Amino acid sequence: MSMIAEDTFMCDREWGHTEFEPKALRNLLGCYPTGVAVVITRAADGRDVGLTINSFASLSLDPPLVLWSLVNHSPNLSVFRDCRHFTINILGKEHQELAMRFANPRIENKFADVATHVTPEGVPALHGAIATLVCENHKQDHIGDHLLMVGHVRRISSETGKPLVFHGGTFTALHEAL
Ligand SMILES: Cc1cc2nc3c(=O)[nH]c(=O)nc-3n(C[C@H](O)[C@H](O)[C@H](O)COP(=O)(O)O)c2cc1C
Repeated sequence: MSMIAEDTFMCDREWGHTEFEPKALRNLLGCYPTGVAVVITRAADGRDVGLTINSFASLSLDPPLVLWSLVNHSPNLSVFRDCRHFTINILGKEHQELAMRFANPRIENKFADVATHVTPEGVPALHGAIATLVCENHKQDHIGDHLLMVGHVRRISSETGKPLVFHGGTFTALHEAL
């Protein structure tokens, strides 16, 4: 007797949705848990600029490339597009307040009372991040409603710690699998 269900060979034309609102896609993408990072650069006028991201992903090991994306209407689009270096600071599970601070456009100086140090490349890095990657701004491309940023990793530093996690629109942390 065949172990393959008959359904395997049938095309169910009603399956899934081919028309959907952006909000439905956004909610669905929220099923995919991510880490949380703060990306930082220093503008040409010396201003430090940073925002919370979860679009960070690894792209290549050789050469070492990573990517993230910045929404097109960001007030700092040109700062990141034109910068030489940026840092990607991966947040630990105790950094939810930092994540919310760097995601809040109403805070005038996001860096007030935030401990940072300047890397040899001249860009700020967050103290206490569980990992920091200093990236050279390698490539940028406007794709859809975001600017895709590809960074060439030039320096890395890490500390022990558990990551902050973003899932279903809220912050959470890792739990042991059963
Ligand atoms: C968990 C989380 C992830 C985010 N990821 C991104 C991202 O990948 N790209 C982006 O452009 N904005 C992202 N945002 C939104 C920015 O953090 C937010 O718009 C921030 O205010 C931008 O700062 P600015 O307006 O000072 O540039 C994210 C927000 C949160 C809370």
